[in-house]
Amino acid sequence: MISFDQEKHVFHLSNNKVSYLMQVEEDNILSHLYYGPALPSYSNLRKYPRMNRSFSPNLPDAQNRLFSLDTLPQEYPTFGSGDFRTPAIQVRNEDGSYALSLRYDYHKIMNGKPDLTGLPQTFGENSETLIIFLKDSFSNIQVQLNYTIFQNLSGIARSVQVHNHSIKTIQLEKVSSVSLDFAKEDFELLHLPGGYSRERMMETTKIPYGSVKLTSNRGASSHHQNPFFALTRPHTTESTGDAFGFLLIYSGNHESIIEKDSFDQIRTQIGISPLNFCWELTPGNSFQAPEVLLTYSNHGLHELSSTFYEIIENHLVRSNYKKQERPVLINNWEATFFDFDHARLARILDRAKEIGVEMFVLDDGWFGHRDDDRSSLGDWFEYPNKIAGGLNHFSQEVHDKGLKFGIWVEPEMVSEDSILFQEHPDWILKVPERPAAPGRDQFVLDLSRQEVQDNLYHQLKKLFSSIEIDYVKWDMNRNMTDIFSQRLTSSKQGEVAHRYILGLYDLLEKLTQEFPNILFESCAGGGGRFDAGMLYYMPQVWTSDNTDPVSRIKIQYGTSIVYPISTMGAHIADVPSHQTRRNTSIETRSHVASSGLLGLELDLAKLSIHDLNMLKEKIRFYKENRTLIQFGYFIRILSPFENNDAAWSFISKDQTECLVYYFQTLQQPEPAFKPLKLRGLDPNAIYQNESGEISASGAELMHLGIWVNQQKHGDFYSFALKFKKIGEINNEHTNDTLGK
Ligand code: GLA
Repeated sequence: MISFDQEKHVFHLSNNKVSYLMQVEEDNILSHLYYGPALPSYSNLRKYPRMNRSFSPNLPDAQNRLFSLDTLPQEYPTFGSGDFRTPAIQVRNEDGSYALSLRYDYHKIMNGKPDLTGLPQTFGENSETLIIFLKDSFSNIQVQLNYTIFQNLSGIARSVQVHNHSIKTIQLEKVSSVSLDFAKEDFELLHLPGGYSRERMMETTKIPYGSVKLTSNRGASSHHQNPFFALTRPHTTESTGDAFGFLLIYSGNHESIIEKDSFDQIRTQIGISPLNFCWELTPGNSFQAPEVLLTYSNHGLHELSSTFYEIIENHLVRSNYKKQERPVLINNWEATFFDFDHARLARILDRAKEIGVEMFVLDDGWFGHRDDDRSSLGDWFEYPNKIAGGLNHFSQEVHDKGLKFGIWVEPEMVSEDSILFQEHPDWILKVPERPAAPGRDQFVLDLSRQEVQDNLYHQLKKLFSSIEIDYVKWDMNRNMTDIFSQRLTSSKQGEVAHRYILGLYDLLEKLTQEFPNILFESCAGGGGRFDAGMLYYMPQVWTSDNTDPVSRIKIQYGTSIVYPISTMGAHIADVPSHQTRRNTSIETRSHVASSGLLGLELDLAKLSIHDLNMLKEKIRFYKENRTLIQFGYFIRILSPFENNDAAWSFISKDQTECLVYYFQTLQQPEPAFKPLKLRGLDPNAIYQNESGEISASGAELMHLGIWVNQQKHGDFYSFALKFKKIGEINNEHTNDTLGK
């Protein structure tokens, strides 16, 4: 899959889907030639044109005014000797200069993928890796670029390592995990901005001249900007158009740059955010930047998402549960908040059992003397009498009813009112002599410190082994401020935010490996850390604290651009919604929640028999279709970002089953009749819905569609249609593939 043309000095990574080309140019500069649909061969057509441009310096050869770094597309550009665009790396040398001239030195090709110690990463046997070593011969700084290509996937994983082979210490002020230059092309930018309770709202914008910076400096990948973007051709749809996706496998601060220069070329970068970042690299040491996953589709967004899903599910998530059906759970948070005792939990448990729930999750408030959100974080043990009979007893009670038992923890935080804080006030992120900013009355523990990690490890290990726990919700409920470690020297303070994430990854690695039978769900005030880094340790994420179905349609749709359904927790909650005060039917709430990993989050003891029966039926239906939903093909049909309605479907891998959900936002007076055209079906198969009312070929369902809006149903109406293949048409049709 990887070749090097000795004559043309061209690297070619290719499989049946994509090609990626680079060339060693004048003075051993590594240029970027091409990334896109697979090419069977390369004839040097892309050699970048040479042209004299005013104000473009002519390093390396003063006599050759036709060549300049200012315009050349490059693989890992630096600043200061001719290229005025954003550099991929910034190094401050001991003499105060920022000089760095990277030149191709040598390369290696290997089967598989080298290990990125301590960081989340993709894996896979059917892969090959090209390692290119660039070197600054003045300073002896070496930059190692890794490119892994997977068989049959239009995905390439890239990462960067910096080695200090000099005798002087350098400061790394920026190390982008990828830099990718595109020659003049017509692109738009698709990304997933948002905020608390409205995560991953899709936005597609024009790319202006200058640079667009997408960033999180919150110490977490954040609700506000997912570490992902894509370049798409204008008018790219679900099934047509080119799309280039970039996904950082990292959970901390990040920055993406999309820069359009005066020659209409586009430079893209993604990596750790350089704000407040500075890594002291002493002689003989190396720095490993997080990995980036590049995906490409020339059939629109569906194919882009499918590639992400396939890589995340098969080459990133490691949990025992990755291929297992996930249980229907009930979580007591929105049911009780902090106001619970044993009797209240037991009443919910009884009802949960009756309606077919499979796991009971005890959320915040079971530990220390935590009766509100002001205390006890850090003390991961129960006080006597918090829950009558104790936690162990309650876990047994849950298990005796035939349900699994799960628990909530927020290990990275500490309350001032806790034993841990009283014993170790210096364990938080805080600048000496200055007050630390509280958030939700809590402080961030300094996970860059080994003793902090060790303490949490021992406390959690004890908790997970002394009680029968099947599931853990790992929360993180504020962002990082006062980024200073009381353990590190002044020259290392720029490393703290990244060292924190490395410490967190270490802790998660230990606990998830030691407790492989626990199903871990990641959470950060909902979806504040919904990223590929966390998925390496925990196979699912609490998508958002917003459980209002109308908001959730957009949140889940936006999330699905990158992340598979098997990663998205979705719960049926009470009305009016705690987040929006909106009233919606059980039908609509369950249709939205059943489009993810279904859970319930409401006080069942307060529901009428009628509502309980409805929930029971919804849970039964979900279980019947669970494999289809959690592991089938997910197909977006109508975007809530473009319409007053939305629709999506789940199709079994053999195309014999299809479950469609349609959601209307506001009822229009005298609405147009609208055909809902399904996608991804076998055109020659005959499908029938459960009531037998609709019976049509896949081709008809896809090209003629099903009428919606035939009646006025009111706001927030939704329906589900389940089709099964009941036969085949014999005449010849052209084959329609998934997503088209
Ligand atoms: C966060 C989570 C919620 C809940 C609360 C408990 O906000 O996202 O689901 O667990 O914390 O404090």
